[in-house]
Amino acid sequence: MTPIHSARRVLTLISVTLVCFFAACSAPDQSAVATQSADGGQSMTTVTKASFGKTANGTPVDIYALTNWRGMTARIMTYGATLVALETPDRSGRAGDIVLGYDSLEGYLKASPYFGSTVGRYANRIGKGRFSLNGVEYALATNNGPNHLHGGLRGFDKVVWQATPFEETNARGVKLEYTSPDGEEGYPGRLAGSVVYTLTDDNELKLDYRAVTDKATPVNLTHHSYFNLAGEGDILGHELMIKAGHYTPVDEGLIPTGEIKPVQGSAMDFNAPQAIGSRLAEVPGGYDHNYVLTRAGQGMETAAEVYEPKSGRAMTVLTTEPGLQFYSGNFLDGTITGKSGRVYGKHYGFCLETQHFPDSPNKPDFPSTILQPGRVYETRTIYKFSSR
Ligand code: GLA
Repeated sequence: MTPIHSARRVLTLISVTLVCFFAACSAPDQSAVATQSADGGQSMTTVTKASFGKTANGTPVDIYALTNWRGMTARIMTYGATLVALETPDRSGRAGDIVLGYDSLEGYLKASPYFGSTVGRYANRIGKGRFSLNGVEYALATNNGPNHLHGGLRGFDKVVWQATPFEETNARGVKLEYTSPDGEEGYPGRLAGSVVYTLTDDNELKLDYRAVTDKATPVNLTHHSYFNLAGEGDILGHELMIKAGHYTPVDEGLIPTGEIKPVQGSAMDFNAPQAIGSRLAEVPGGYDHNYVLTRAGQGMETAAEVYEPKSGRAMTVLTTEPGLQFYSGNFLDGTITGKSGRVYGKHYGFCLETQHFPDSPNKPDFPSTILQPGRVYETRTIYKFSSR
């Protein structure tokens, strides 16, 4: 056995013990999930499962904790395939939770502005909740004034997904699956969707989305975490870079006008890093805009980078998607008390939602979001963390 192997074996023993210790102390029904590690069983058990309560109709909800070797933990629940907590180390190595949300399921069931959710079938807005496809007009559920937002009244954020945990060399995760019946929220076709959350030992939280359908239907899945890299307070001092030369201007209902407008010379330009708050006063209502990412091709590319000077935490967002909704938490207004009794005021969290452009089903010039039967919808987004 090499020194590295024996050191790793010692760590394995310590880690398994710790997992068992915390399992016993914190939640009686928490268990280390039996998953086969790909390197012959030498890595620590880094996935645990616990009960997180029940929905109003009695469906059990579980929460999975993914832990890596570098101080990161991601907690994902089956309700809404939601990221409930994300602990990352600051520059002094201290772990802190950097996403907004609730301590228990009740908060999510009662009123959540999509905290950490998986959003679908169509993330963002579809004007008037209507679109035509192959000569048929479809009417979707409207839940945002006259418009359809984030999948409707009972979108993918409000259903319980089926979970399968797994461990791999240098990574571990949980696959969540949900099949949306034909006609759900007004959408055509039975859509079988999944999202795989993987936490790597490189401090990446990787999200892999997949969907297939039996009838042509729009699909646009995204992740709706509200990040706060300081863990508290407002996010106005976070320095943000968005690699986008253009954005899609919107009307008063936040529906794109169809124009693709250059960001240059305006408060929309984040190509050079800027504090989120530095030009916020110039943006009526705050940032809630879709950026057209500057891309070299179709593959994984950096979309955005964020740095929080007090904690030293940094986050890079990489994606295969063409767009990025930057939302500066404008609708948070202090009426929500979240985790650890924290009151979430205006701009206490920001979202970077990788996606296709809003209202694409009604905008023939935007990249298509229609999934055809026999084709596979596949996208990937990585949130990568570091500190300096
Ligand atoms: C999105 C939208 C916002 C808002 C939030 C949820 O990011 O773009 O306008 O609806 O979700 O409150």
